[in-house]
Amino acid sequence: MAQRVRFMETVLRDGQQSQIATRLPIEDMLPILETLDQCGFEALEVWGGATFDSCLRYLNEDPWERLRTIRAHVKNTKLQMLLRGQNLLGYRNYADDVVEGLVTKAVENGIDVVRIFDALNDTRNLVTATRAAKEAGGEVQSCIAYTTSEVHTVQYFTDLALEMARTGADSICVKDMAGVLTPEVAYEIVSNIKEACDLPVQIHTHDTAGISQLTYLKAIEAGADIIDTCSSPFSEGTSQPPTESFAIALEGLGYETGLNIDKLEEVAAYFLPIRNRFLDEGRLNARVMGVDPKALVYQVPGGMLSNLLANLKDMHVEEKFPEVLAEVPHVRADLGYPPLVTPLSQMVGSQALMNVISGERYKVIPAEIKDYVRGQYGRSPAPISDEIRKKIIGDDEVITCRPADLIPPQMPHLREEIAQYARSEEDVLSYALFPDQARDFLGRREDPFYDVPVQEVTVSVDVA
Ligand code: CO
Repeated sequence: MAQRVRFMETVLRDGQQSQIATRLPIEDMLPILETLDQCGFEALEVWGGATFDSCLRYLNEDPWERLRTIRAHVKNTKLQMLLRGQNLLGYRNYADDVVEGLVTKAVENGIDVVRIFDALNDTRNLVTATRAAKEAGGEVQSCIAYTTSEVHTVQYFTDLALEMARTGADSICVKDMAGVLTPEVAYEIVSNIKEACDLPVQIHTHDTAGISQLTYLKAIEAGADIIDTCSSPFSEGTSQPPTESFAIALEGLGYETGLNIDKLEEVAAYFLPIRNRFLDEGRLNARVMGVDPKALVYQVPGGMLSNLLANLKDMHVEEKFPEVLAEVPHVRADLGYPPLVTPLSQMVGSQALMNVISGERYKVIPAEIKDYVRGQYGRSPAPISDEIRKKIIGDDEVITCRPADLIPPQMPHLREEIAQYARSEEDVLSYALFPDQARDFLGRREDPFYDVPVQEVTVSVDVA
């Protein structure tokens, strides 16, 4: 019997997040939702990541309303969201009651599968979201944040997957936000996870370095069950490989995809003029569609490389770039090899830059790095030496418990703060996540004299 490979379509979330900074409004989605539902996808990724913030901040759209609208038109295909564990959709830890509230309401409003990861792969930061999703009747996809380092071995990721299986995962995702997962490593990781547990394994990567299709193929050969792809107009470059091409190629190789190629074509034909409109308006930078293998050469994600270079240019010390690049792995080793994903990639980058520019290592230390060493983000993948710890935080206490254990409930206070504008628990949760943006959005909705306009600033792309 032919091996089945299922697809998750990312055009409504990661595809548009990676290429047009999550600026696709619901009006551009509505006419194609029924067709997307008829394609035969395992799931549609529609929510989470930057969609929530972008709805409130730039599109004057209620993210909850968007979810309900999509659900009303997509009746058969699972809807999936992305969640940063205890950080939810942002970069700081929330109290458990906020995590429980968001996850429960997400499932109630239409989400079927919650993909949950932690930037440090500290599974304690996944526990509350996992339990809440299960209790609400959702599926939990526990997600490994893939990175390369000497501690991030195939065995490390396999052990992590096993731990996730034990804590209630319905499936496992290997998520490569930086596009640095190579085909041979993907093959090994997927084979090992498939051997160790019998959960479905899903693979997520970006084509930034130009190898995503090889990576998927090897992962599929190793038994991967689901791959993340994007309808062709918003595919490749910083996004995922193209859905239609991949479906045709896999069918040709004898795999069973369950996809309706004619419907996939309809979806692509629909999104092509939308992509062109964003290009014409200058809101899609053609550069995101290119390939840049530097991430593979330097083992540093592309976004981090361009950020560092931009910072050095601002300071008129571009010539220090090679030195800063060489310092990155040292800082990472000092800090116990945090994965180079947001926000840790930015933090490690800043520290490396300061170590070089100031002429003395750890002479200048960003507050976030101190918090990280104090354990406030969670457990580092490898221990931090006493010497480095002392250098960074002196004799400050390091917390060893789950960071959220120290955060008292936040919802009662938040409900009071936004009582003037909030009509529902969903409104309060929007406010919990993005206080300023949500207050402005709700204020505009509730008060005709509320005069803070919708923001529009330069488009910058942050993949996840
Ligand atoms: Co992604």
